[in-house]
This record gives sequence, C-alpha cells and structure tokens, in this order.
Amino acid sequence: SKPAAKKIKIKDTTDHRNVRVAISGWVHRLRQQKSMIFITLRDGTGLLQCILADKLTETYDALTMTLETSITLHGEIKELPAGAHAPGGHELIVDYYTVIGRAPGGDEAITNIVAPDADPQTKYNNRHLTIRGDVASANLKVRAAVVRAFRRSYDDLGLLEVTPPCMVQTMCEGGATLFEFDYYGEKAYLTQSSQLYLETCLPSLGDVFCIQESFRAEKSLTRRHLSEYTHIEAELAFITFDDLLNHLEDMICRTIDHVWNDPQIRAFIQELNEEANREEKKRFEKKEVAEIKHYEFQPPQRPFRRMKYEEAIAWLNEHGIPNEEGEPHKFGDDIAEAAERRMTDILNTPIFLTHFPFELKAFYMKKDPSDPRVTESVDCLMPGVGEIVGGSMRMDDLEELLAAYKREGIPADPYYWFTDQRKYGTTPHGGYGIGLERLLAWITGRWTVKECSLYPRWMGRCTP
Ligand code: 4AD
Ligand code: MG
Repeated sequence: SKPAAKKIKIKDTTDHRNVRVAISGWVHRLRQQKSMIFITLRDGTGLLQCILADKLTETYDALTMTLETSITLHGEIKELPAGAHAPGGHELIVDYYTVIGRAPGGDEAITNIVAPDADPQTKYNNRHLTIRGDVASANLKVRAAVVRAFRRSYDDLGLLEVTPPCMVQTMCEGGATLFEFDYYGEKAYLTQSSQLYLETCLPSLGDVFCIQESFRAEKSLTRRHLSEYTHIEAELAFITFDDLLNHLEDMICRTIDHVWNDPQIRAFIQELNEEANREEKKRFEKKEVAEIKHYEFQPPQRPFRRMKYEEAIAWLNEHGIPNEEGEPHKFGDDIAEAAERRMTDILNTPIFLTHFPFELKAFYMKKDPSDPRVTESVDCLMPGVGEIVGGSMRMDDLEELLAAYKREGIPADPYYWFTDQRKYGTTPHGGYGIGLERLLAWITGRWTVKECSLYPRWMGRCTP
C-alpha cells in the first residue's frame, strides 16, 4: 500500500520534494500521448505539471479527461532539471487520482465559449469563466498584491483604516454622476467618494484612509470609466499642499516598491506587459491604433514632475493638441481625456498636475492663497492611462464653505455634519483618492480598466 499523502497547495511544492502529496485543483492544460497524460494542474496558488503513466492512462476517467475538470492527484513531487519547461520547476509523478467534478468538452468547453478571439461582450458575459485564464488571473493577483501593499504603506506611515458608509445622502463630486435609490422612502445615493466622511475622522482618529467602492453613473463609455470602482482614499490633518504632494509621491513609490520587490508578482507584471505588447501589435495590424506603444512597467523615479494647470495649457498649445472644440486651449478649459493622455504619453513620466481653476473643480477645494483663480488641487497622471489620482487641500473656513454651497446651489442641510468640521476646531487638511483599477491598468499595461476589475460594471453591464 502507498504511504498516506499530505494535502498541500501548489505554492508549497518546493518544500515537499520527494514527498508523497495530494493536490486538488482544476485541469488547466492537458496533453495526451500514448500511455502518458500530462496535466497542468491549477489550484489558484500556482500551476504544476502532473504526469500519469501506463495503467493510470487506461481508465475511463483518463480516456475522457477534459480541461477544467476538478481532480485530486496523489503522487511524489520531483524537482526537474534546470531549464525544464514546466511551471515552478517541479512535477508530480501521479500514482493515484480521483475526479471530483467533470467539465464538458466540445461546444460547451470553456475554451470554446471564451476562445482567445471571442468578442468582448462574450468574454464579459462569461467573466466567471474568463477569470480562470492566465491573463485575468495574473491581473487579479497583481491587484491583490497592490491592495496588500497599500495597507502596508499606510501602516508604515501611521494612517488608520476606516470603513465609511456606501449608502449616503450627500454628493461629493457633482450631481451628474449620482446613482440614486429609494432608502425606506427617502432619497439616497451610492457614494461617489468617502472623502467627506474621512474628513470627519481627523479629530477622532488622526490621519485616516479607506479602501472602499465608489460609484459613478458615468454615461460615457471610455477605456477608463467604470460605474463601480475601488477607491483608495486618504485624509491628513495639519498639512500644507506641499506636504500633501510629498505624501502622495511617497505612498505611490513605497507601494510600488513593495509590489515590485515580490519576485512572483513582478513576474506576473512582466508577463502582463508582454501580453499587452502582443495585443497592441494586433490593434495596430487591425488599424485600431495609429502607432505601436511599448509597455514596460518600471517603478517610477522620484521626484515626480510637477506642472501647474496653466503650464499644461501652454504645453498643449505648443504641441498643437487642441481642446474639445478643436481650438487651442485657453485658461479655464477642461483638459479632456484625449489631450491628457497625449500629454502623459509624450512626457512618459508620472506628473503631478496642480492648481486647477476654481470653476473646474469640486465645491470643497481650497483656493490657492497666492492666486485666487486656482485651487490647491492635484491630479496624478501616469503614462498609458492619464489621471489615476485626484486630490486637494480642503476649504477649512466655515464662511467660505457656506458661500461655496450657495454658489454651487448645494442645499446645506444634508451636509450639516461636514460643515460642523469647520465649526468644532477646524484645521488645514487635505487628501486624495486613487482609482485602483486605473493604477493597475498603468502597472499591467491593460487597454481598459475593465480588465482590472473582478466583475466590471459600466453603462449597460451589471452582470455577472
Ligand atoms: O478625481 P475624483 O473624482 O476625486 C474624488 O472623488 C475625490 N473626492 C477623492 C479625494 O480627494 N478623496 O476621483 C478620484 C480618482 C480618479 O483620479 C480616478 O482614478 C478614479 O478615482 N475614478 C474612476 N475610476 C474608474 N471609473 C470611474 N468612473 C472613476 N471616477 C474616478
Ligand atoms: Mg478627478
């Protein structure tokens, strides 16, 4: 009889060389030869080549094996010679196995439903199957590493995590993109940003952050807008605008360093970048893009380039990049997505775009004391994506905030708790929000942020 097998996960194979183990997973790849079956097993923690030989290949289960069948394999882990073509450099010499759940072959096989050339709608309808693939799962693993790294960086810098509500009765970023719903007969919204709530935590908990879903009823279909996205937001008290920029730069660089220094995650990022380059080539061949952009993520260098809105306007005009009306940019114009992307791609470096005109920005932003036309505001732009962060210093004067409500036609009543912040021991303070999916699109070279969400939502899609 065989020795008892220890149940392990694929990530732990290295520690079990020459040991008899049991590993459960799904058939990720399958190659059948005469009296040999090669299974690449996937268990979520990694991939492992498993070999069935002789008698084991003659059973009904072996002869009818399909991709995505769930299975438990028993056998000994062997180290492969250096340079062998198998993930992780190990293989499992199977001596016993049981099929747990068979998966259909033929037309119903996952590989036929979400074939690499399937149209995007089919892929998104079958996102629950697509995420089993190498590209989507690598992306989701990088995502998890980035979230973990953010928590670690915030912990390093002493910010405390809080969980603000998602169901609210105030807006933060303008009424146009609010999702409204019926809350026991009252009007309520899905939160656009947790910023206002984070501000109220400062006197209680000091500097705080949250990692929470935000919701935007975006009516435009773009490569970088979702209806629900993960928002990493922080708020800091007793700071200057310069402190805010330095903190943000530090947070981004620290977090990227944590991610980049994990060899497994770095390998995923590099594979995703290579895949992005292959996709870019296809887009070029199909004439969907005019030139080939090369993706190769590298951790950003400090300090980030700092550029005032007014300088950006001049830069865009010098480079012949027009505004949305096709005319030269003038002070006060919004910098539209296309222009912003062009500028970021040409400069090809992280940019802190600062000091946006008052009229372009949200009601709560503090004016620059030395230039009242503009606010102490910042967008962080990254190559390939453009804006991934929006932040600012906040209006901390009570009268000024009350005037801002009036000017913007915002009813002050529902904001009493936010207003009180200026009444009971106001302080200079500021913060920012990072769009996680946009940050990931930058790192992994994705064409759209939809690929950086587990189950993306945008106008027209709320399934699966
Ligand atoms: O620039 P935004 O609207 O700023 C705020 O919400 C501030 N209240 C944040 C704060 O200061 N605490 O959004 C911040 C970031 C954007 O830079 C972008 O990365 C992301 O959130 N974002 C979106 N990501 C995906 N889909 C959308 N529809 C997004 N809208 C904003
Ligand atoms: Mg913004």
